[in-house]
Amino acid sequence: MNTTVVILAAGLGTRMRSKRAKVLHRAGGLALVEQVVQAALAVAPPERIVVVTGHQAEAVEELLWPAGVRFARQVEQRGTGHALMCAREQLELADPKHDGLLMVLYGDTPLLAAATLKKLRDQQAESKAAATLITTTLENPAGYGRVIVAEQGAEQGAEQGNVIAIVEHQAARPEQLLVRLINSGIYCFRSRWLWKHMGEIQPDPASGELYLTALAEILNRHGLQVRQLHVEEPSELLGINTRVELAAADRLLRARKARELMLSGVTIERPETVTIDALVRVGADTIIEPFARLTGNTVVGEDCRIGQGAILESATLSHDVTIAPYTLISDSRVDPGAQVGPFARIRMDAQVGPQARIGNFVELKKTRFGAGAKSQHLAYLGDAEVGERANIGAGTITCNYDGEKKHATKIGAGAFVGSNATLVAPLEIGEESYIGAGSVITEAVPAHALALGRGRQVNKPGWVKKRKKKA
Ligand code: UD1
Ligand code: CA
Repeated sequence: MNTTVVILAAGLGTRMRSKRAKVLHRAGGLALVEQVVQAALAVAPPERIVVVTGHQAEAVEELLWPAGVRFARQVEQRGTGHALMCAREQLELADPKHDGLLMVLYGDTPLLAAATLKKLRDQQAESKAAATLITTTLENPAGYGRVIVAEQGAEQGAEQGNVIAIVEHQAARPEQLLVRLINSGIYCFRSRWLWKHMGEIQPDPASGELYLTALAEILNRHGLQVRQLHVEEPSELLGINTRVELAAADRLLRARKARELMLSGVTIERPETVTIDALVRVGADTIIEPFARLTGNTVVGEDCRIGQGAILESATLSHDVTIAPYTLISDSRVDPGAQVGPFARIRMDAQVGPQARIGNFVELKKTRFGAGAKSQHLAYLGDAEVGERANIGAGTITCNYDGEKKHATKIGAGAFVGSNATLVAPLEIGEESYIGAGSVITEAVPAHALALGRGRQVNKPGWVKKRKKKA
């Protein structure tokens, strides 16, 4: 039986107190709705996933476009049941005859694990019930819909009984408020029964909204069964409504990611201090020191060391790379055996070649730094190409910007650039050449030449004594 998934993500999320739609807020390195899509992909291919958008629909759709999912618009937010109705046309493209399963997820539950969704699908596929919903038992169920089970279910323990109704918090009677069994907002329906009875949902008398949760009672009225999958660990079902819950979800997602990496062979010192985004990949036997931050599409190879406080933003590190503490690498690449930092900054499509060395307070911008080349301290290399084995002295600066345009600097293989050289671009420095320390170089330097571009030193013997005598 095929599974189609719908993710409801049209709400604003008033309790976030934000200009941005709730599902666009990030936890664990992805927007909340992206996390839900990631989990959904475990049970359905992207063309069978429909996301219902409303608030800031364009932004949500743009974000999810690359994933290849479908979209349906809910222009006015008239409740979760109404949101599902808005997706009908798109859902029918995936399941025209309504003979599959329809899983409904909410876009604000980012901690959902793929394994739980598979379990839900399997349980529903094997049962005769019209629907199965994920429930859990909470210490403090305030705000959640309460799950009411059949009498004989109560005898067996509420967790096993058939669901006869879901009562929203605001509508619950005092004795119902005591129920701690709650609706997680994750359901798996047999499509046929869902669409047959969907139209029977009546507006909630208080809010006027169409609540999806009303279906539990409706299906029961038709003699159809609603079952539950009770989850023991409620943290996975946390629905984000406030920024406090957002921070809690972020912490849990980071911990889950660190654990996943450790189990796959990565050493993480003080895992509670590192921040690693969901899509980051790290090879075995790499060591990550405390307070490192790996974000975006960062990929790290095997046997690397990521120093304390290092920040890797969509960086690509090959194997055996050492990133010393407090180094920032963004949208750039580091080749095998290279060492970068401490306190270095590599950015905008820069590339550090194999076995190269970049030391403290060195910045590389859009620069290709050759194999085995060295720049150990205090330099700025922008729009440059540095040949292999070249040595860049402390204080070297490429003057790549004339106030209007950026210009390139090319430094040949094996060149030796003395300390505090000022390289005025556009400029070409030949291979195996020497640049005298303190030079301002404005013209091309031929290969194997020595270039000096500085005032000659003058010594005046006895000058100080003479001056003192005058005084
Ligand atoms: C909902 C459930 C509640 C459950 C809880 C679990 C209903 C009526 N109530 O309550 O039983 O315990 O989730 O977290 O379903 N949305 C739309 N369009 C709308 C309204 C909502 O797309 O018109 C989306 C929201 O963007 C959100 C999701 O549906 O992602 C849930 O909506 P929300 O308002 O957060 O529902 P809760 O009050 O939390
Ligand atoms: Ca919610």
